[in-house]
Amino acid sequence: MASLLPSIALLLLTLPFPSISTSTSYITRHASALYLTTPNSPTNSPTNTSTRFTASGANIYWLGLDENVIPPPSTPPAPFYAPLNASYPTRGRITEAMSTVKIMGATTVRSQTLGVSVGNPLSVMPKLGEVNEGAWESMDWAVREAGRVGLRVFAPLTDNYDYYHGGKFVFLRWRGIDIGSAGSNIDPLVQQFYTNRTIIDDFKNYIRILLTHRNQFTNLTYAEDPTIFAYETGNELGGPTFGDKDVPAVWTHEILSYVKELAPTKLTIDGTYGINAEHLNLSSVDIFSDHFYPMDVDKLSAGVELVAGTDKVYLAAEYGWTPQTQSKTPMSEFFAWIEQRQNHFWSYFGHNVPDCKTFVDHNDGLALQYGNPKNPVNYTTQISKIRQHLFKMQGIAVDETLPPAPCPGN
Ligand SMILES: *[C@@H]1O[C@H](CO)[C@@H](O)[C@H](O)[C@H]1NC(C)=O
Ligand SMILES: *[C@@H]1O[C@H](CO)[C@@H](O)[C@H](O)[C@H]1NC(C)=O
Ligand SMILES: *[C@@H]1O[C@H](CO)[C@@H](O)[C@H](O)[C@H]1NC(C)=O
Ligand SMILES: *[C@@H]1O[C@H](CO)[C@@H](O)[C@H](O)[C@H]1NC(C)=O
Ligand SMILES: *[C@@H]1O[C@H](CO)[C@@H](O)[C@H](O)[C@H]1NC(C)=O
Ligand SMILES: *[C@@H]1O[C@H](CO)[C@@H](O)[C@H](O)[C@H]1NC(C)=O
Repeated sequence: MASLLPSIALLLLTLPFPSISTSTSYITRHASALYLTTPNSPTNSPTNTSTRFTASGANIYWLGLDENVIPPPSTPPAPFYAPLNASYPTRGRITEAMSTVKIMGATTVRSQTLGVSVGNPLSVMPKLGEVNEGAWESMDWAVREAGRVGLRVFAPLTDNYDYYHGGKFVFLRWRGIDIGSAGSNIDPLVQQFYTNRTIIDDFKNYIRILLTHRNQFTNLTYAEDPTIFAYETGNELGGPTFGDKDVPAVWTHEILSYVKELAPTKLTIDGTYGINAEHLNLSSVDIFSDHFYPMDVDKLSAGVELVAGTDKVYLAAEYGWTPQTQSKTPMSEFFAWIEQRQNHFWSYFGHNVPDCKTFVDHNDGLALQYGNPKNPVNYTTQISKIRQHLFKMQGIAVDETLPPAPCPGN
């Protein structure tokens, strides 16, 4: 590995970094590890300013668009799309979320709705090729607040499922392929999302609109902003049968090469659900990922081993965190395995800010509500272990105490 280090320095000198403050650092990959890298000093000396970094923290899927809160009456009324219960989260909810996961020891946040936003009137792209400028504010605020507290974010670009924020089924419907999206055996026409040139180009156009959008709070495009360190092809992508990993390698390569073309400083994640061995030699992929329901070290170690053979990064992008998700592997054992790698619990919820008395809940039984006095003792114990784990990953020992998190954040 040591002999490869000069090539990183060379890479750092030649990458076209956008002209922003030189104190801004980037997350970079070298072989199977991530680094926090500061672009070279104005003298352009090839100094080694990288330190090891692990992407570890929380999933906060609702930062761009939520589906759990019905906005209270106001003048003018807050945007709300009743058929999907979709609404934009308040700035206070976003601010609280960022400062709270920071208190939990997170370095990174994964958020579906900072990347996936298609098909309903509140989306970035409500209809094919149409852009809703009103959809950017919550996303821009989330990126700004993450940057302000020193967190990095990453996002999938589409979703395997037909949730409120949209995904591959929306792109298919836009081109007249209206197939059932429920269940574990989908019409094989679903593969047209990966194979149909018209639909691939529609998706790439969406990616271009997203990455070239200029944040109203930071004045950086999403492509430029180092706070967004990576994009993932999609969430839990597969083919007609659940878990089949049937995502063509050529599609993954085309999409991730396009991301790198638009945003040369971004890292890329293969969003196939599970490690697809046929993708391991794709030069466009920096990070391979898997999800864990329940925690399972057999699956984890097998995936880690596959990826280790490629000198790429391994990411456990989601794991269930409740006592119920430890039916196979105890949390301490899972954490011991993942401690050197990247991992994110599923999923964080906070107060219904500006209401700092009520917590927002979600119906999957996996909402982690830090500081909720109604948490059962076994949940609080898990949350405390997660916090110790996240700090340990940064080389910091903390005890089981859970410090209070301010609402609405600071
Ligand atoms: C550069 O930094 C990395 C990460 O901190 C470290 O592992 C490596 O030894 C350093 N290389 C040199 C030549 O100092
Ligand atoms: C919207 O929220 C209401 C109230 O919680 C619930 O009854 C309804 O089923 C939700 N609709 C959808 C589409 O989720
Ligand atoms: C791709 O989709 C378009 C729009 O539905 C359709 O006209 C075309 O035949 C499809 N191409 C292939 C190769 O199936
Ligand atoms: C934002 O950035 C653009 C492009 O670099 C620049 O032209 C513009 O003046 C900037 N706006 C503000 C308010 O700084
Ligand atoms: C990658 O591996 C697959 C087999 O898994 C092979 O078919 C393909 O040609 C390889 N691609 C490259 C670019 O080496
Ligand atoms: C966690 O605590 C709750 C409430 O006391 C209890 O109902 C549940 O069975 C416990 N879960 C486990 C896995 O022990």
